Amino acid sequence: MPERVLGVGVIGAGWMGHVHARAYARLPHHYPELGLRARLVAVADTVPARAEDFAARYAPDRIHADWAALLKDPGIDAVSVTAPNAYHRDMAVAAARAGKHLWIEKPVGLTAGDARAAAEAAARAGVQATVGFNYRNFPAVARARRLIAEGAIGTPAHARVTFLTDYAAHPSGALTWRFLRAQGGSGVLGDLASHGVDLLRFLLGDVERLVADTAVFVPHRPLTAPGGSHYTVVDAPGGPTGAVENEDYVCALLRTRGGVRVTLEAGRTEAGAQNAYGFVVQGGEGMVGWDFRRAGELTVSAGGDYRNQPAERVFPGPGDGEYARFQPGAGIVMSYDDTKVIEAAAFLRSIDEGAPYGPTLEDAVRAAEALEAMARSAADGTWVRL
Ligand SMILES: NC(=O)c1ccc[n+]([C@@H]2O[C@H](COP(=O)([O-])OP(=O)(O)OC[C@H]3O[C@@H](n4cnc5c(N)ncnc54)[C@H](O)[C@@H]3O)[C@@H](O)[C@H]2O)c1
Repeated sequence: MPERVLGVGVIGAGWMGHVHARAYARLPHHYPELGLRARLVAVADTVPARAEDFAARYAPDRIHADWAALLKDPGIDAVSVTAPNAYHRDMAVAAARAGKHLWIEKPVGLTAGDARAAAEAAARAGVQATVGFNYRNFPAVARARRLIAEGAIGTPAHARVTFLTDYAAHPSGALTWRFLRAQGGSGVLGDLASHGVDLLRFLLGDVERLVADTAVFVPHRPLTAPGGSHYTVVDAPGGPTGAVENEDYVCALLRTRGGVRVTLEAGRTEAGAQNAYGFVVQGGEGMVGWDFRRAGELTVSAGGDYRNQPAERVFPGPGDGEYARFQPGAGIVMSYDDTKVIEAAAFLRSIDEGAPYGPTLEDAVRAAEALEAMARSAADGTWVRL
């Protein structure tokens, strides 16, 4: 069958815009049998320098300053929404109404209502939608899920999910969109706890209730011109500052529908953590643990010995998730960008076959509902049922 070409547009030429563009380009290397090939037709960004830098690297046919113009660009069948959270809802709804398939970054808008609006628009238009919950795609995570489902660690009893990073640890880290309610919505809730909730749902099922506490640790940050990233540090002592409007840190205690107790902790001002993301799931007969900084390793303790049972370091390999698409033998570590290639493949496969693969807008809605429940709980100090 002749290969079909899918024209794609990228809206938002920041970190994620680049990652999506690279993922589309690498698809034929890792998924040569896909019936569809992505061709980058256009990019849209409100900061010209951003769009030009993107174009110099990935060579789209056209650059737009206005994302609405990109949606009207002939030859675009699908869009990546990689702009700040405040734009997700309008972009997703407009793209769906224009009949464009949607690869959209988490958290999908500012609220659960925004994620629901995107989901409804996509369903009404009959377009496919994939959401950027890429941590699911690490082969070690896929193996952990399989081990839990097979009962290798017994019945899961409790778990710890951690998403701690240092990108905002520097007190002179710039006041970018991520720290402003109107632009980013919640703070570390939408930014990182969203990944944590998705991972815990992927491994252990839906959340039934939770209680949470939040904190702001760096209340003011220096102002910056558009075009910086959340890693930008402003070296201007005594310069103008603005208030951080959303939380730097959340700690939550959750109960899944299956009765598993989970503690989830996410923070963005964590000097020393770098990117300490991961989980430990404890079952009655053993445990599995994963650390993103050692993404190619899984700690597993299983075997039914209970006491003195060793915890072993296991290196995932072919047979674990999509590992074999990338490497021929176990123990060759895969990267963050590789997980986005897997996500891009799920997106194109869902379009090709007319059925969803991987995380969908429904998953984004479920995560957003849990995040809103955490914010509510932190405000009034009570358990919240989902
Ligand atoms: N899946 C993940 O692991 C992951 C990681 C980082 C970011 N994200 C998500 O990706 C999205 C983008 O984050 P980022 O880190 O790439 O941000 P970023 O600040 O690096 O990039 C955002 C880009 O969007 C552009 N932009 C702003 N308003 C726009 C508009 N109206 N139209 C078009 N472009 C516009 C900005 O100029 C900038 O170039 C966020 O929703 C974030 O939550 C996901």
